[in-house]
Amino acid sequence: MKVLNLYSGLGGNRRYWKNVNVTAVENNEQIASVYRKLFPKDKLVIGDAHAYLLNHFREYDFIWSSPPCQSHSKMMRATRHTINTYPDLKLYEEILLLKYFFDGSWAVENITPYYDPLVEPSVKIGRHLFWSNYSIAPFDAPELKGFFSAAPAELKKWLGYSYKGNIYYKGNHDGGQVLRNCVHPELGLHVFSESKKSGSARIKSKAITIKQKQQAYEIRY
Ligand SMILES: C[S@@+](CC[C@H](N)C(=O)[O-])C[C@H]1O[C@@H](n2cnc3c(N)ncnc32)[C@H](O)[C@@H]1O
Repeated sequence: MKVLNLYSGLGGNRRYWKNVNVTAVENNEQIASVYRKLFPKDKLVIGDAHAYLLNHFREYDFIWSSPPCQSHSKMMRATRHTINTYPDLKLYEEILLLKYFFDGSWAVENITPYYDPLVEPSVKIGRHLFWSNYSIAPFDAPELKGFFSAAPAELKKWLGYSYKGNIYYKGNHDGGQVLRNCVHPELGLHVFSESKKSGSARIKSKAITIKQKQQAYEIRY
């Protein structure tokens, strides 16, 4: 089974996946080096996941995407954040591309945003929202008390990581940020496994047929 793991980070979501042929895409060298050690058999692309998706999505059976959540997060509205930033709508670009053009199974993960999601998610599990084209059953995702203030060592233990030192994501002074970005491995496995359940209803979006495209063209010109 060919799987594309976009914005792969430290690979929290991917940790318990078995019998898969994974291509991971991550643009941060330091984060990717931890991923490489954990998953030496995965093909690891250092580059832009958004562009990679557009150019390669037809080559895979299953696609997971975890675009950066910072610009959508509730923290964005907290008083100490004074920088004006647009929510990164690449999240929705990817959901729409997968929904209307991809024939395999897919899941896009992000956190619960500070606004009403622009596309209705399929399910909310813990602090995560998932958009997908198959049913994802509710799940008791492991939770860590004091998650937002937990020290890196505590977060590593909770997620099962043992790499040395801290990684500081984009100049963030908190070495725990990169770990807080992870999907817990058990949740990653649950969401992935649900796509393979025989009863899992694949929600098909109507693909636009060539005839419809021609009709639209004729109406416009
Ligand atoms: C939310 S984290 C992914 C967490 C991952 N799913 C896990 O469970 O461990 C997002 C990751 O995307 C990476 N990233 C951000 N922008 C990227 C881009 N344009 N292309 C590839 N990776 C990117 C960040 O460095 C970060 O590691």
